[in-house]
Amino acid sequence: MKIGSLTLDNITILAPLAGITSLPFRVLAKEAGCALVCTEMISANGLVRGSKKTKQMLESLPEEKPLSVQIFGSDPAVMAEAAQIVESSEADLIDINFGCAVKKVVKTGAGVALMQRLDNAEAIIKAVRKAVDIPLTIKIRTGWDSSGKQALKLSQLAEECGVDAIAVHPRTASQGFRGKADWSIITAIKKVIAIPVIGNGDIVTAKDAVEMQRITGCDAIMIGRAAIGNPWIFSHVTALIKGNDVSPVDIAHRFEVMIRYCKMSIQCFGEKNACRILRGRLGWFVKGLRFSSKFRESIKRISSENETIELIKAYMELLQQEKEI
Ligand SMILES: Cc1cc2nc3c(=O)[nH]c(=O)nc-3n(C[C@H](O)[C@H](O)[C@H](O)COP(=O)(O)O)c2cc1C
Repeated sequence: MKIGSLTLDNITILAPLAGITSLPFRVLAKEAGCALVCTEMISANGLVRGSKKTKQMLESLPEEKPLSVQIFGSDPAVMAEAAQIVESSEADLIDINFGCAVKKVVKTGAGVALMQRLDNAEAIIKAVRKAVDIPLTIKIRTGWDSSGKQALKLSQLAEECGVDAIAVHPRTASQGFRGKADWSIITAIKKVIAIPVIGNGDIVTAKDAVEMQRITGCDAIMIGRAAIGNPWIFSHVTALIKGNDVSPVDIAHRFEVMIRYCKMSIQCFGEKNACRILRGRLGWFVKGLRFSSKFRESIKRISSENETIELIKAYMELLQQEKEI
């Protein structure tokens, strides 16, 4: 699977998730078999203004590469300048957000608002394409109605302007994340463009990913919410596509990964900040396990690395004792 000059090891891609796909999360996804990880959406204005917080979002580690960095904005000149900043960072690929439906973003003419302003969308793509040499992708929605006309038009336009692949989350602007993703839009786009089409939306299990590829003919699969607390879904998808069996994740390995996630988060965000973030995040990894609500309760006030790791270990021991009884 190729996106422009970039060759991917397999066809699984991590979706950008604001507030979630930070560096530690991306490293876990990569280690668990994801071919391409993506940052959350990063403000082009913030990058161009030189905001320290925004620039920190470009921090990367060699083990997560190749890395896709997603930018959002509505001004072609600002987007082009931001893309150059991204290109001079660790990024291997730039993705432009044409799908964010959050009011705060849409109000500024960015995200999915651009699917209503195809003239400006085109100007942005052309400006960014001219400004950088690394592969360029866009991520779109169905558009503002369910017909998919805007998605088809934007896809064709993007291909003409030199975009290397298109990720399609087939929900309308007003749907947000409600209702069902309409995979037939992915099929329709695949029929009208020659560049790779990345299918996204409502993949809950590895089987769903195989099914999406079979039904839509998409070239790659992008997974968001189902990878939260379950990065192993990426290797499971690859195994199923190859016709191999998928075995459940070993419990000891699950806890090992949780501890690594804690340590990386502390390294990235500092102990105090990381612990605050981890209070709501560690629960992701234990969904469906026995006594998980008790564990979630126990980590509600964690404030240090030692305390957090002790609580994870204690929970693991509790589960192991249960197994032995
Ligand atoms: C919490 C959250 C944050 C998201 N942030 C972004 C984002 O920063 N950029 C983007 O293009 N899409 C974003 N999305 C949309 C996802 O990338 C994806 O298109 C959507 O969740 C559907 O895929 P899924 O069913 O595999 O989760 C976000 C979705 C969620 C739930």
